Amino acid sequence: MTRVLITGANRGLGLEFVRQYLKQDNPPEIIIATCRDPDKATELRELAESSSSVHIFKLDTTDFDGLPNFVNKVDELVGDNGLDILINNAGAYLKVSLLEGSSDDIIENFKINAVAPFMITRSLYSTLRKSGAKNNLPVVVNVTSKMGSIQDNTSGGHYAYRTSKTALNMITKSMSVDLSNSGIKAVAIHPGWVRTAMGGPNGLIDTFESVTNMIRVIAEVRVGTNKGLFLNYDGAEIEW
Ligand SMILES: NC(=O)c1ccc[n+]([C@@H]2O[C@H](COP(=O)([O-])OP(=O)(O)OC[C@H]3O[C@@H](n4cnc5c(N)ncnc54)[C@H](OP(=O)(O)O)[C@@H]3O)[C@@H](O)[C@H]2O)c1
Repeated sequence: MTRVLITGANRGLGLEFVRQYLKQDNPPEIIIATCRDPDKATELRELAESSSSVHIFKLDTTDFDGLPNFVNKVDELVGDNGLDILINNAGAYLKVSLLEGSSDDIIENFKINAVAPFMITRSLYSTLRKSGAKNNLPVVVNVTSKMGSIQDNTSGGHYAYRTSKTALNMITKSMSVDLSNSGIKAVAIHPGWVRTAMGGPNGLIDTFESVTNMIRVIAEVRVGTNKGLFLNYDGAEIEW
């Protein structure tokens, strides 16, 4: 039985992860869905009311002082079985171009998109280690963006967002090396250009297409031999 934790699960891709995991033939035993304001997370609360597997935990991913308390709550819930899948999904886009936008915005975007996934993963390291059927390894999934690919950058701009996701990619690569001795995988996945509040109405795919594919890819990564990859939502490799 799988235990999954998803950050930023109140809307967009995070909410769809919860929805699609629940629809699986063999759904996770525990889905920890975090959000900043559970009172306002109406759709997520509806999912939690429909299934006892969904547990809503309040988490501002940039509140690093609150992490020990958060991890205690996670450990209490999952017990000795640990956590199998950590999806660092929460993220933000702050607009910074060459001549507009502040240094504070760049730092804030870094904090949300790169430092927070790092701190959360570090805090949950021992919880992830407890998981571990040998052929179905625990995995850290960092939801990144193709906009963080240096190779793919032909249009420039977006300084805060692009660099924060490039940093997240490097964090993922280092994690994949550091965690491999503990039998934990780490991958960066680009969800596609998706119609969410962040992706806007012109996105090429909807959350269903993005997330059903990502769930399949995550399952493949857990049983596969590759690690430290930067993957598209359909499983294709993306150049760093
Ligand atoms: N949509 C796309 O086309 C696209 C493309 C590439 C990558 N991505 C990545 O996919 C992920 C999900 O994006 P989305 O499209 O679903 O965006 P979204 O609809 O804007 O949702 C963003 C989520 O992140 C949460 N969040 C932001 N800052 C947070 C913080 N400090 N603490 C906790 N939660 C925080 C938001 O919570 P609140 O509701 O509380 O703000 C919300 O749940 C992000 O990492 C994004 O960079 C998206």
